[in-house]
Amino acid sequence: MTSKRCRLAVLASGRGSNFRAIAQSCQREDFPAEIACLITDNATSGAIAGAEALSIPVSIVDAGKRRGRLADGVEEGIADICETASVDFILLAGFMRILSGPMLDRFAGRIINIHPSLLPSFPGLHAQRQALEFGARIAGCTVHFVDASVDGGPIILQAAVPVFDDDDVESLRERILGEEHRVVSRAVELLATGRLRIEGRRVLGDDDIH
Ligand code: GRF
Repeated sequence: MTSKRCRLAVLASGRGSNFRAIAQSCQREDFPAEIACLITDNATSGAIAGAEALSIPVSIVDAGKRRGRLADGVEEGIADICETASVDFILLAGFMRILSGPMLDRFAGRIINIHPSLLPSFPGLHAQRQALEFGARIAGCTVHFVDASVDGGPIILQAAVPVFDDDDVESLRERILGEEHRVVSRAVELLATGRLRIEGRRVLGDDDIH
């Protein structure tokens, strides 16, 4: 590929399977994005080893003790890291802290998140458990733009999976993750090639964006 690749910052807190999935896609010569940096609030995140193996710069931020929130000043610091790395887009791949201000201001319309439910059903924590406890027959995942709401921004892509009678949280999580890994790469590809536009709540593409 001769044209310039988009630069992506990935923010992750957990096992890092979505990080590895997008990193693998970025290894493809024809993929329109590269990972410029990994930012994590968890020094034991599985994403770190994946990044180091690919010589992707890693920043570990001390996000403070408030669950789900960033301590004062940390979000500015994350935005500074992204700017210094000249990133075009930001992917939240299991980042367990809410972005509330500086990132949304400085990267408006350029931050996307992957969530393990078919939004608007089951936003927030423990989406798989919520789906099981509600008795949903279909579960899935959603990639959406990030705004000031929790898991409420305009939807880019979704994928569905069945819920089986003998599912538990772990089996459902694994089935959904299989789809997450596929749609997260597809969403980055669409974003990086400028094929998405937001009209109100709807995200429209030049062609079939599924
Ligand atoms: C995924 O289920 C993602 O949808 C959610 O957090 C989980 C992260 O998993 N936001 P991993 O760390 O990418 O394996």
